[in-house]
Amino acid sequence: MKHYSVSFNKKSRLIKHPETVQPRAEGLHPLQPEHLQARLNDLLQIQNDFFPCFDWTFPPPLFAQSSGPRSIAELFAQPSVIPNRYSVYLHIPFCKTLCSFCYYTVLPGRGIEQSATYVDYLLREMAMYHAPLTGQRCESIYLGGGTPTTLDNEHLARLFDGLHRHFNLTDDAEITIEAAPGTLPRDKIELLKKLGVTRLSYGIQTLDEKMLATMNRYYSVDEALRELRDAVEIIGNVNVDTMYGFENEPEDALQNTLQKFTALGVPCLSIYSLDKQRSVKGKEDFGPPKDEMYLRKIALFQHAKELLAAAGFEPVLQNIFARPGAASYRHQVRRWDNLPQVALGVGSMGYAPRRPYQNYSTLKFYYEHIDAGQLPIMTMDCLSPEMELAREVTSQLRFTKVNTDVIREKYGVALDEVFGDLIESLLALGYLERIGPHLRLTERASYYNNVIPMLFAPDSFKESLLSLPEEYLEKFPVPYVMTQVGCTQSGPIEVNLGTA
Ligand SMILES: C[S@@+](CC[C@H](N)C(=O)[O-])C[C@H]1O[C@@H](n2cnc3c(N)ncnc32)[C@H](O)[C@@H]1O
Ligand code: SF4
Repeated sequence: MKHYSVSFNKKSRLIKHPETVQPRAEGLHPLQPEHLQARLNDLLQIQNDFFPCFDWTFPPPLFAQSSGPRSIAELFAQPSVIPNRYSVYLHIPFCKTLCSFCYYTVLPGRGIEQSATYVDYLLREMAMYHAPLTGQRCESIYLGGGTPTTLDNEHLARLFDGLHRHFNLTDDAEITIEAAPGTLPRDKIELLKKLGVTRLSYGIQTLDEKMLATMNRYYSVDEALRELRDAVEIIGNVNVDTMYGFENEPEDALQNTLQKFTALGVPCLSIYSLDKQRSVKGKEDFGPPKDEMYLRKIALFQHAKELLAAAGFEPVLQNIFARPGAASYRHQVRRWDNLPQVALGVGSMGYAPRRPYQNYSTLKFYYEHIDAGQLPIMTMDCLSPEMELAREVTSQLRFTKVNTDVIREKYGVALDEVFGDLIESLLALGYLERIGPHLRLTERASYYNNVIPMLFAPDSFKESLLSLPEEYLEKFPVPYVMTQVGCTQSGPIEVNLGTA
């Protein structure tokens, strides 16, 4: 049986340190506060990755997940920590070409010929959520991909008509659409604005023509810049995705690219470090354990941050920077608050209260389930209240910061009591800082940000990792570190929702 997902904790991010001890068969070490600092210090050196990105989840997909829910009532059976609110993620898998580095669920090239049918099914899927969500308000919609702007104007209009009919949007709802160059003529941008789009996320990756030529993306820099100018003029709230860490990358390519975007008045910039592991589809051998680019990527990212700070940008999430007041990023931030998220389309990931779930990732299964009147959900995890709390705390630590007062109000849990010794040790080691009620990872901790947040998982979860095959723990140092650090809870976790 396959016990784990290859998309989690890839070897390259997690080099094994030769001096570390072997996993213990007899269970987790009990908490020893006096040794915690030293143990953390040693074990964190195993982690040798620098990868600020969005593809990180808690709980990690380690164990075989359950199948989908029998009914929509079962999906929404648990209480929400954010009652009467939700968001929507809708996946459009079509792209003009398959970029050489991409690992997303996409149907490039002639896939677009299926768009009329695909939109029909999306509308039917939306209708299934209509009744269960009546009375609740939708605060953001994110159309991602793939490249949603490959859809023609007629299909986009049908899609937005469905979204407005089936989801009860708040007056200030954020509606984002992802786009790629070559799919955004001026009339489409104007239409999107008319349909209610409030934010555009445009993937340009680089303005270096030579690098672009190796990416299997067919457009000119001039064309991309023309579309971008129109988008900034018409929509205003525009994010541009950029990437770095390519082998053929000139030393100053990222800096030059970012400089041009800031000069153009783009209010939000995302910087992705190239993840090569997932670009090579179906490859089981992950290659050399150490990312050759590790130190170079750290330096490139550091320079990029300095450049953006000088241009008046502030970091809003780990790899996203914005001009204060000029850009919004609500959908991404609220994701880490355990806000329910309806998933629409192939391969989409959603979150019903305490039920992370994912749709089928092939059109065949996706269509078949909708034809049978069922939600096209392939897997659904069932989280305990403690694991839901840990989902929020670990994700917020990984990407932003945790407000301990909010956690107390929302879950009735005092983090400083439950994880007191862990927090003190991380503060003393300089990996964590406290700003008023907030806990935040420091710059120093960013090199270990795959694993430090995981230490806030319940001990019972860390204990369960010991039942994984030994070769797994040897290969994937994040769970290895979690088990070797041992217990990190100083007290029991007793979740009591809405105690404020
Ligand atoms: C879902 S894609 C959608 C954007 C749009 N389709 C495009 O490519 O312009 C979101 C972003 O993920 C990033 N991305 C894709 N593949 C990546 C990889 N292998 N490593 C790191 N980031 C990647 C790119 O910056 C891309 O813009
Ligand atoms: S990077 Fe964007 S355009 Fe390229 S294949 Fe991936 S989703 Fe499609």
